[in-house]
Amino acid sequence: MSERVKVAQTDQIPPGKSRLVKAKGHEIALFNVDGSFYAISNVCPHSTGPLAEGRLYGKIVTCPWHGAQFDVTTGQYCGGQAVKPVTTYPVHIEGCSIFIEIN
Ligand code: FES
Repeated sequence: MSERVKVAQTDQIPPGKSRLVKAKGHEIALFNVDGSFYAISNVCPHSTGPLAEGRLYGKIVTCPWHGAQFDVTTGQYCGGQAVKPVTTYPVHIEGCSIFIEIN
């Protein structure tokens, strides 16, 4: 059964930026893409690099360790070292609070 967990306030993550949050034992990279928020696993599927520390261009994040790229809106692999997508989490905004849905 999934659960909504409050992880941040919207004003803590400006557009084009990211933040590492933790919920129910998951490390999650939370991104602001032009005012919309998206959550993916912080753990790069190539070799566990920290995706919250990656550079975000538009909706594409680049892993800081070896350069794999992922679409943060879908989790899809877009190039580089990794060959599989990254886990995504549904995001809900209530007022200024950001919630992530986790199983
Ligand atoms: S750990 Fe992310 S590309 Fe290698």
